[in-house]
Order: sequence, then C-alpha cells, then structure tokens
Amino acid sequence: DLSPIDKAKFAAAKRATDFVEDGMRVGLGTGSTAAWLVKCLGELVREEGLKITGVPTSSRTAALARDVGIPVISLDEAKWLDLTIDGADEYDGNLNLIKGGGGALLQEKIVATASDQMVVIADVGKQVDTLGAFPLPVEVIPFGWQTTKVLVEETLIGLDVLGRTASIRMNGDHPYVTDEGNYILDLHLRRIGNPRQLSLVLNQIPGVVENGLFIDICDAVVIGYGDGRVELRN
Ligand code: A5P
Repeated sequence: DLSPIDKAKFAAAKRATDFVEDGMRVGLGTGSTAAWLVKCLGELVREEGLKITGVPTSSRTAALARDVGIPVISLDEAKWLDLTIDGADEYDGNLNLIKGGGGALLQEKIVATASDQMVVIADVGKQVDTLGAFPLPVEVIPFGWQTTKVLVEETLIGLDVLGRTASIRMNGDHPYVTDEGNYILDLHLRRIGNPRQLSLVLNQIPGVVENGLFIDICDAVVIGYGDGRVELRN
C-alpha cells in the first residue's frame, strides 16, 4: 500500500515509460521518483522483452538498473541519447527546473543535455510559479570551498533573489561528497527572479562546477497526483 505521494511518483514514472521505445538509449535519473521509473523499465525489459540501453546518472541508479535487469553503458559509450527521464525538486510554468536535492545534479545535467528529449516525472507538489523555495544545489570543488562559498554569497548581492545564504551539505560530521568527488552548497534563495541569469553568473565563479538550474533542457513533465492520476505538460 503506497502513500499518496508514492502513488503520485509511481503513476508519473509508469506513464513516462510510454516515451520509451525499442532500441532507445535512455538516460536514467536519480532520486525516489526516478527509482520507480527504473523499476518499471526493468519489468518491461524482463517481462515484455523491451530492448533498451540505460545510461545512469549516479552510482545509486547504476546499481538499481543492474539489479532490475536493464543493460547499462556509460555516457561515453552511448555518446548521444534518445531520451532521459528524471525527477526534479521543482518545475515552473516554463518547464525550468531545480534539481540536485539527491546530490546527482552534475551527471544529471550532462546526461540530460546529451539527450534528444528530457522528460521529467514529478508529483504535483513540485510545481511552483517561481523557482527558489527549494534550496538551489551548487556543486563546488572541495579545494577552497569556504572561499568559494563567500564568493557565491557575494555574487548573489544585486541579483533578483530574496535569500542570499549558502550552506554546505553535510553527511554526518563531514561534507557530503558527490559521485564526482565534489561538495554541494545549498543556496537559500526563496525566490529566483531570473533563473537564466543566475545560472550563468554562478557558473562563472571559479570553484563552481555546475548548478542545479535546468533551463530550456526539459521538454515535458509528467505530473503525478495522489489518487494515481497523471497529467502531461509540454
Ligand atoms: C537528484 O540529484 C535530484 O535531482 C532528483 O531528481 C530530485 O532530487 C528529485 O528526487 P525525488 O524524486 O526523490 O523527489
């Protein structure tokens, strides 16, 4: 028996499998919603003979994909993908996203950008008018990260945001370490007035590797509701 939120995530994931066709190279997202997708795709591979190759966006997703029987290759082996399906932390009316709550934003952004199509699966609770209530994850190089954090906070002055503090993501007593060996700063902005500008400005700071804003990358959102209904937005 699933909770309403899991029902919503599962419904969105299941509906998104309709985008997947035989022979496709499919980017596999990270997070609890993407995990439902990987399980659904695994079932189609095992029981209906669906022929796909998966490119995972994290070590977690790679392990799950192998577990459920999806053949997995690296992005360098695939080079280009037909489709990526992934979750998101927020999506707005322009289908711009905040991602990285699960810490995998760097691989997720590289894989989504290398795909002809990106489909997001999300429960309706992730829908916002303006991005920014969810803290924006920014992946930074461990070297000098405290200096980078100050630079990031100073850069936020003069930008169209409400909050301007950053916090280092922790894993117990130590900074959380990404699959790429980097750290994550979570930016508490509350409201991002100009996501495109913010993304460009952040990525110009030395020490910043990538940020969790996905601008003009997502082509469609499959929205799941607690009663199992889904809605497609594109
Ligand atoms: C992972 O790094 C994130 O970008 C996820 O896609 C995002 O956090 C959504 O996760 P859930 O599906 O668990 O909410």
